[in-house]
Amino acid sequence: MNINEPDQRRKILILYFSGTGATKKVAQIMHMQLSQRYTVSISSIEDDAGLDINDYDALIVGTPVYHAAPPRIVTSYFEHIRPLVKALPALIYNTRGLCALNTNRILAKQLYKKKIVTIMDTAYRSPASDGSLIAPRIKRFFEFEPGLNRKVTKDCKAFVKLLQSGSLRVYIPRFQIGSLINAPNKLAGQLIRLKIHLHRGRCTKCGKCTANCPMGALSKDFSGWPVVAKNECINCYRCIHRCPCLALSLSKRKPTDRVLRY
Ligand SMILES: Cc1cc2nc3c(=O)[nH]c(=O)nc-3n(C[C@H](O)[C@H](O)[C@H](O)COP(=O)(O)O)c2cc1C
Ligand code: SF4
Ligand code: SF4
Repeated sequence: MNINEPDQRRKILILYFSGTGATKKVAQIMHMQLSQRYTVSISSIEDDAGLDINDYDALIVGTPVYHAAPPRIVTSYFEHIRPLVKALPALIYNTRGLCALNTNRILAKQLYKKKIVTIMDTAYRSPASDGSLIAPRIKRFFEFEPGLNRKVTKDCKAFVKLLQSGSLRVYIPRFQIGSLINAPNKLAGQLIRLKIHLHRGRCTKCGKCTANCPMGALSKDFSGWPVVAKNECINCYRCIHRCPCLALSLSKRKPTDRVLRY
């Protein structure tokens, strides 16, 4: 079969989580590319309203990297779904600021337990949703890798080719030896959760942060100021990047002066 030939009967689901928009951007490029040949649905795991993965012929799963692993919101989503009725081929990808290490491996292993068979994985360097707040002078922390569209298109073509070959060969990305060196870093990142500070002089109590938190971790106090429930928060920093007044930051003294906008 020609890989350029449309096959609208085949249904693909792109399922992602995106804290600040990078993983979503990649999902949207994939959606545009693959829709030329297939019937493609796209959904954030936050919006999953009775979504049945069994209805699809292939799956794409996108995740950001948080401390060299997929964030809790992603792992707990897949922990809670039922194993599929029949094995489903999948492409998994991550977006990361610097280094993804075993992120795709962790995800592929978890998906396999639910009969979601990773047949291909990939990764894209993206703006760093953490680094851009900690070191806003580093230009790289605000940019996608050069040629992002071209790379995503190429990856989509490779995935289509694999799908058409009917391959269901399990592919678990190799263990990254660098993760041993990074282990203390990873642990520190998971344990030392940076606090989000509110700069009241800037806040207009607009409620945009509370409305957009993926974990429902932000609420308003009696006076209307936003407050973070530390245990619920996954430190995605969406609230900081989306605040129209730059009123939230990781520093008690210095408010944020530059954020990521997609
Ligand atoms: C809490 C946190 C931890 C992160 N840890 C890593 C990391 O270990 N390695 C890395 O390369 N990027 C790391 N990043 C950067 C994100 O992976 C990257 O910015 C990603 O593209 C964000 O995707 P999103 O915009 O879809 O949320 C981290 C970001 C956050 C917020
Ligand atoms: S989004 Fe910003 S300005 Fe609006 S309530 Fe939240 S912190 Fe305040
Ligand atoms: S409160 Fe935490 S989980 Fe909610 S948007 Fe902010 S950083 Fe993300």
